[in-house]
Amino acid sequence: MELDFDDDSDRDDPVVQAFLARIPEAQALHAARGLTDEESSATLRDLPRHARLDRALHGTPGLRKDWWVELAFSGRLFELGRLQFEPRRTCLAIHIPESGPLTPEAVDASLARAREVFPEYTEACCTSWLLDPQLREYLPSTSNILRFQERFEPTGEGGVDDARIVEFVFHTLEPDLDALPRETTLQRAVIDHLRSGGHWHYVAGRLDL
Ligand SMILES: CC(C)(COP(=O)(O)OP(=O)(O)OC[C@H]1O[C@@H](n2cnc3c(N)ncnc32)[C@H](O)[C@@H]1OP(=O)(O)O)[C@@H](O)C(=O)NCCC(=O)NCCS
Repeated sequence: MELDFDDDSDRDDPVVQAFLARIPEAQALHAARGLTDEESSATLRDLPRHARLDRALHGTPGLRKDWWVELAFSGRLFELGRLQFEPRRTCLAIHIPESGPLTPEAVDASLARAREVFPEYTEACCTSWLLDPQLREYLPSTSNILRFQERFEPTGEGGVDDARIVEFVFHTLEPDLDALPRETTLQRAVIDHLRSGGHWHYVAGRLDL
């Protein structure tokens, strides 16, 4: 299979080239787990996704999140529809790639497929800025993020992490609050909350599969 890259310079990176050489091995691991060919390809598209995101984040080509892409290429992270799943010892960990809106319907379908592929799991878990309850003060209750959040029961773990939400919402590592875009409700919320002296959290939650 061919992976499409937004920019040719992403493909030329030696770290990316090393992953590309491992596609057949990764496909075999995905097939052994029961993924369809399309699900396997979607899982491998994490490589061009992170090459693009890293280029945006750092301003130059070069895959820095190779430790993350390694999960997909070594058969430890699987993209099933809207969500990615990482089988862990105690729970099936959920990750949310940047791939369009997180609609409840897409999440339902993804969880249903996860139950088929991972019937041995009764519990899923997620640790993310998306589960920070403070978002309820800023987003409408109909927002996809809040509807996703409602599926989870908090498990009490977490902590302050302003950098993480800034990275995912603005694609920058060194925020100048005055220069950040205020185009979406979430962007305005992130900036205004930080400006008022507040902090954002990563929060852990669980749900029954
Ligand atoms: C998770 C994600 C798909 C949710 O997006 P969504 O489905 O549009 O979410 P919502 O419906 O709740 O959006 C509510 C508002 O926030 C905005 N918003 C949501 N995510 C945003 C993001 N990452 N950056 C900027 N604005 C965002 C929406 O545009 C909307 O604002 P608007 O009504 O003014 O247009 C999106 O945040 C995303 O792609 N994130 C990157 C991946 C990520 O953070 N994963 C978790 C890692 S721990």
